[in-house]
Amino acid sequence: MGCLIIVGTQWGDEGKGKVVDLLTESADAVVRYQGGNNAGHTVMFGNKTYILHMIPSGILRETTSILANGVVIDLSELVKEINDLKKMGIDVDKYIRISDRAHLVMPWHKEIDQLREKKRGKSKIGTTGRGIGPAYEDKAGREGIRFGDLLDHEKLRTRLIELVKEKNIFFKNNFDTFQKLFSAEDIFYEYVEYIKKLESCIIDTPSLINKLIEEGKNILFEGAQGTFLDMDHGTYPFVTSSNTLSGNACIGSGIGPTSIKSVLGIVKAYTTRVGNGPFPTELLDNDGKILQSEGNEYGATTGRPRRCGWFDALLVRQAVRLNGINSIALTKLDVLDGFETLKIAIAYRLPNGEEYDNLPRSLENVKPVYLEMPGWKCPTAGAVKYDQLPDEMLAYIDKICELVGAKVSIISTGPKREETIVLNPDQF
Ligand code: GDP
Ligand code: IMO
Ligand code: MG
Repeated sequence: MGCLIIVGTQWGDEGKGKVVDLLTESADAVVRYQGGNNAGHTVMFGNKTYILHMIPSGILRETTSILANGVVIDLSELVKEINDLKKMGIDVDKYIRISDRAHLVMPWHKEIDQLREKKRGKSKIGTTGRGIGPAYEDKAGREGIRFGDLLDHEKLRTRLIELVKEKNIFFKNNFDTFQKLFSAEDIFYEYVEYIKKLESCIIDTPSLINKLIEEGKNILFEGAQGTFLDMDHGTYPFVTSSNTLSGNACIGSGIGPTSIKSVLGIVKAYTTRVGNGPFPTELLDNDGKILQSEGNEYGATTGRPRRCGWFDALLVRQAVRLNGINSIALTKLDVLDGFETLKIAIAYRLPNGEEYDNLPRSLENVKPVYLEMPGWKCPTAGAVKYDQLPDEMLAYIDKICELVGAKVSIISTGPKREETIVLNPDQF
């Protein structure tokens, strides 16, 4: 396996958590390299369901789980997540490692995120409200606090006093509805308590990851969000505030691109999106409702219903290119079980009538041009053998591979670990 990057190819929630958990069986470490607790990665095995927000999904198999430099961490939420996992019997302390360079999501980041969204009214982005955007803004603006800064208490206190003073003025000037004042002392004492519990996990993670690479170990890089939420390549401004593409696995973890062996793209057999922004194949009719209810399409982080639509081959083809994807894992095919006909977008019609089979700069106001395929109308949920799959499903899979330009290496037929068909393990 070597170093394998796992990325979402659509707008997130493609089933990355499930696939990471599956492949962790052969991994020595799993790394989160971008994003924060805006992510919600669901893993199901036995009779249990786990939702990971911040901690790599590999923790469930008690594998070294690394939060690398590129992530942003909400300390209070991280401590909650660790405690919840411990209650479920997982020895988190033994396996979690946190970069001393990872930035913190501070209480003001969450407030700014939520107040800004309120101010935007109808044009809101529909963020998760977890403070991700403002935290990355402060990081880029060189105003952030890093995990390692928590270790020097006196410096931390001084920095908090300076920052809180600035932030309180910022809130007073920008959000007249915000009455609360932040207290540097309260935050300081709260964080010192958290850090006492985490101190031994804070390390120089690039050194650890590179050492594992030198030893020839297998490492999974667990992407969060999806290709079209990338801030440079997604449907801006309806994106998240990090680079979600595979290239950022190198930057966010501190390794060179030559260390990467392959990139696995996670592809949902239809399309979903949470939050606002253009979505050409969105279905507002009964078919959309069926996808939502059969696919249980409700956000793992915010519980919001996910918008649903047909498979969009233009998006995924672009994702294959942008991420250098070697093969795809196709998930949630079972959700399509009852449909008479399935549609795949193969081009967009622009408002001037022109047809376009590449991604235009804006996806607003484009109409999808569909290819129709027969559905299979028989149950496939939980299938574990390729030859159990109906011919119509195999034709649908082949068509997707042809259109997006990648081979399929994993077929997922249900949310549970074992509801999976691994076809070409040599691809990753
Ligand atoms: P992630 O953010 O990419 O990890 O995806 P989420 O966990 O947010 O959302 C994917 C949802 O689909 C979760 O509820 C999974 O349990 C579920 N899931 C994953 N693969 C399959 C599948 O093949 N079939 C079905 N029915 N559900 C799946
Ligand atoms: P996983 O890793 C789906 C979306 C939000 C919003 C936009 C910006 O589970 O696939 P943010 O809070 O990041 O500033 O919100 O990005 N979003 C996701 N949508 N899955 C995710 O993560 C997401 N993380 C952020 O809904 O539209
Ligand atoms: Mg998710």
